[in-house]
Amino acid sequence: MMTAKSFYIHTFGCQMNERDSEIMAQLLTRQGLNPANRVEDAQIVLINTCHIRGHAEQRALSMLGRLKVWREERPDRILALTGCVAEAQGRRLRQRFPHIDIVLSPSNLLQLPRLVERVWEENLPQVAIGHDGVGVPELTGEHPHGFKAWVKIMEGCDHRCTFCVVPAVRGLERNRPFEEIVAEVEHLVDLGVVEVTLLGQTVNAYGKKNGPTCDFAALLRRLSAIPALKRLRFTSSHPVHHTERVLHAMGECPALCEHMHLPVQSGSDRVLRAMWRGYSSSFYLRLVERARALIPNLAITTDLIVGFPGETEEDFLATLSLVRVVDFNGAYSFTYSPRPGTPAAGDPDQVAEEVKDERLARLNQLLDAHSRRHNEALVGSVAEVLVEGAREERGENKGENKKGASTGLRASWQGRLRSNKLVAFTPNQDTAPGQLRQVEITEAGSWSLAGCLTPSPVSASI
Ligand code: SAM
Ligand code: F3S
Repeated sequence: MMTAKSFYIHTFGCQMNERDSEIMAQLLTRQGLNPANRVEDAQIVLINTCHIRGHAEQRALSMLGRLKVWREERPDRILALTGCVAEAQGRRLRQRFPHIDIVLSPSNLLQLPRLVERVWEENLPQVAIGHDGVGVPELTGEHPHGFKAWVKIMEGCDHRCTFCVVPAVRGLERNRPFEEIVAEVEHLVDLGVVEVTLLGQTVNAYGKKNGPTCDFAALLRRLSAIPALKRLRFTSSHPVHHTERVLHAMGECPALCEHMHLPVQSGSDRVLRAMWRGYSSSFYLRLVERARALIPNLAITTDLIVGFPGETEEDFLATLSLVRVVDFNGAYSFTYSPRPGTPAAGDPDQVAEEVKDERLARLNQLLDAHSRRHNEALVGSVAEVLVEGAREERGENKGENKKGASTGLRASWQGRLRSNKLVAFTPNQDTAPGQLRQVEITEAGSWSLAGCLTPSPVSASI
């Protein structure tokens, strides 16, 4: 018999992990449990971990260590290690932290209710890892926010970037059926969702074997034809899958937001080759040029790694040069973190930590200046925001440079532009989450914008 009543989930990492946490929360809610706001009030605690860089992993492990006392206070409590660290090191960590009851990898997360039942019934630890025979773990039609939703359209990755653990911890690429995604988004829109973000590690590789009627571009066109869907986004794209068909869809479908997150990683062809990224810097620059020609007002953001094994000062300068040419609207920048089992981790030519840190600081200085200039150019314009609600503290796991961690702005609510930038503003009496409102931008910082709601709707959008 189940006696526990509530659960608490702590999430590290990317939007895929955030979505996985939403799914696990829905599963536990269906099982009769309630969400708790604090660990102390919960009978089940799940630590949904990220394995992408050493730092995120270490924070998750220290949290697991701190929860030993909590777990041992009451025998009916359950501590679950979920996410990518569970797949990569779950069995080993169960030995190191015997107070972990459940080890559950992303590919197996739909098994959570069964594992919880078994721990309560048998009082034995449960482990569900591996990718054999599993599809895309999604829950059709259940999403916690009223007005925006993340929808996983694929899981895993077929690339083999030499720095990255994703193919090992999330498995090879699996796609959801085209019609299932369409039906889900239609259902969400019927429930009042106005913004959908399609998720996948290489989301734009979706349907690459399907042919033109059911590939990623076709999916974008099909979804943006749903009349009440106001905004459609997707992340994260890989440059080699960003075809002309995708760019044309972005340029022609009004619901598709003018934002492209396109990780480049490095501006040096030598480093890109060593990373096995499959493109050169000139390929990337041509893609950016073509995208800007086809999509008016396009905001481009990226991911960058500095200090990859063998990266010389000259390679790093090539990255700075690419950043100057592209003039990104924003970026997540990281120092290279050697990950167990990846080819680059075994490269004897590792870059010293102080060199990585120094390069990251120089890169961030440049990125900050570009972002500030883009933001300042918006001051005085009027743009559409999707109202999110009271402002959140930001920063955890959103990049080592913590851009946007502290905005210093006084306005108390936030919304997002079509470019995905956050704008702080002061609400009036009739402001509610989920509304599309017009805001005049009045203040700009490197990673922050503030504005005022305008009295009447204006058609311009950014
Ligand atoms: N699918 C995306 C792509 O096409 O590149 C990447 C997904 S990964 C979860 C997010 C970002 O983390 C990567 O783009 C990369 O910049 C960074 N990252 C991945 N492995 C890393 C490592 N070992 N060290 C530092 N940064 C890393
Ligand atoms: Fe990782 Fe490269 Fe795939 S960064 S997620 S192996 S495209």
